[in-house]
Amino acid sequence: MRLLFVGCVWWSLSITAATEPISTSIAALTGFLARYQNLLCYFQECCRPEWISYHKTGLKHDLSTKLYGQHVAAQVVLKAVTGFMNNENPKKPLVLSLHGWTGTGKNFVSQLIAENIYQKGMTSNFVHLFTATAHFPHEAHVDKYKTQLQEWVRGNVSICPRSMFIFDEMDKMHPGLIDSIKPYLDFYDNLNGVSYRKAIFIFLSNAGGEKIVEVALDFWKDGREREEIQLKDLETALSLSVFNNKNSGFWHTSLIDKNLVDYFVPFLPLEYKHVIQCGLAEMVSKGHAPDKEVVEAMARDLNYFPKEERVFSMQGCKVIPARLDFYV
Ligand SMILES: Nc1ncnc2c1ncn2[C@@H]1O[C@H](COP(=O)(O)OP(=O)(O)OP(=O)(O)O)[C@@H](O)[C@H]1O
Ligand SMILES: *[C@@H]1O[C@H](CO)[C@@H](O)[C@H](O)[C@H]1NC(C)=O
Ligand SMILES: [Mg+2]
Repeated sequence: MRLLFVGCVWWSLSITAATEPISTSIAALTGFLARYQNLLCYFQECCRPEWISYHKTGLKHDLSTKLYGQHVAAQVVLKAVTGFMNNENPKKPLVLSLHGWTGTGKNFVSQLIAENIYQKGMTSNFVHLFTATAHFPHEAHVDKYKTQLQEWVRGNVSICPRSMFIFDEMDKMHPGLIDSIKPYLDFYDNLNGVSYRKAIFIFLSNAGGEKIVEVALDFWKDGREREEIQLKDLETALSLSVFNNKNSGFWHTSLIDKNLVDYFVPFLPLEYKHVIQCGLAEMVSKGHAPDKEVVEAMARDLNYFPKEERVFSMQGCKVIPARLDFYV
C-alpha cells in the first residue's frame, strides 16, 4: 500500500510538474491525498461517520430484545446515550456508572452501547476497556499507572474525540487512579488543547448491588411486580450505599459530590425466568435449537438467594455459557 502510494505521488507530481506551475501541483497533491485517505478509510477503521455513528433504533431494539429483566437500566441507558449522541455540542463527556449484582448485564450493556455507535463494536480501536485487576494490579505501581492512564486517555481522545472508555471493576480500582482521570470528566472546553467533550466514560461496579437487591426483594415480598420498580426507588439507596462503602473507589474521590457522573444505572438481580431466557439465547448463539427442557435442567441446578425463598440467581446469567455445555 505504502509503495503504491509513493509511486502514485511521484507519478502525479512528475506529470503536473512538467506541465503546470507549482501551485497547481500542490493542489493536485492535496486532492490526491484526500482521495487516498478516503480509500484507506473505506477499508480500515477511521474516526469518521462511516465508522462511528449512533443507531438509536438499534440500541432500543437490542435493549428490549437481548437484555432481560433490566427495565430500569434499559430506559436510563437509552435516554442518556441518545441525549448525548444527538447533542452536536455537549458541554462535558458522557459519564455513566453501572451498578449491580454479578452477572446482571453490566458488561453486556456496555457492549450493546459500543455496537450501536461503533461499526466494529468492542473491537473498535476507539473503544477501550480497562479492568482494574488486569491493567492496574499492583498498588505499589499506582503512580506509574496514573501517568500511563492519563497518557492513554489523552492520546486516544486526541486521535479520536469520539472515544469510549470502559472501566471495569471500578470498586477494585485504586482511588488515586480514579482521581487522575477526574479532570477529563469535567466541564472544560479543553485541557492542553484536547477536548474531551465528545468522549464516553462508562464505569462498572458491584458497589450498591446489595442495596439494589434489598429494594427488589422488598417489592417481591410485598407481592408487587418487578416492573413496578422505578429509578427513583433505587436511586437514593444506590448513591448512599456507594458513598458509604469505604472500600469502594468512589468513596475517596469526589466523583459523586462534584457531580461528574451523569447517570447512575442500577441493574436488578435476575430471577429464574431470566436465567431461562439467557439460557435459550445462549443455545441459539451456540448454533443449537433452543430447548426449554435442557435450559430448565441447567437453571434448576444453579444457586438462588435468599436461601429460603430462592428468588434471585446467585451468579445472574454469568455462568450460563460454561454450564450449558454439560446439559446439551
Ligand atoms: N440481563 C441480561 N440479559 C441478557 N443476558 C445477560 C444479562 N445479564 C447477563 N447476561 C449474559 O451473561 C453474560 C455475563 O454478564 P455480564 O458480564 O454483563 O455481567 P456483569 O453484570 O458485568 O457481572 P460482574 O459484576 O460479575 O462483572 C453476558 O455476556 C450475557 O450473555
Ligand atoms: C490508547 O489506549 C490504549 C489502551 O487501550 C493504549 O495501549 C494506547 O497506547 C493508547 N494510545 C495512545 C496514542 O495513547
Ligand atoms: Mg462485569
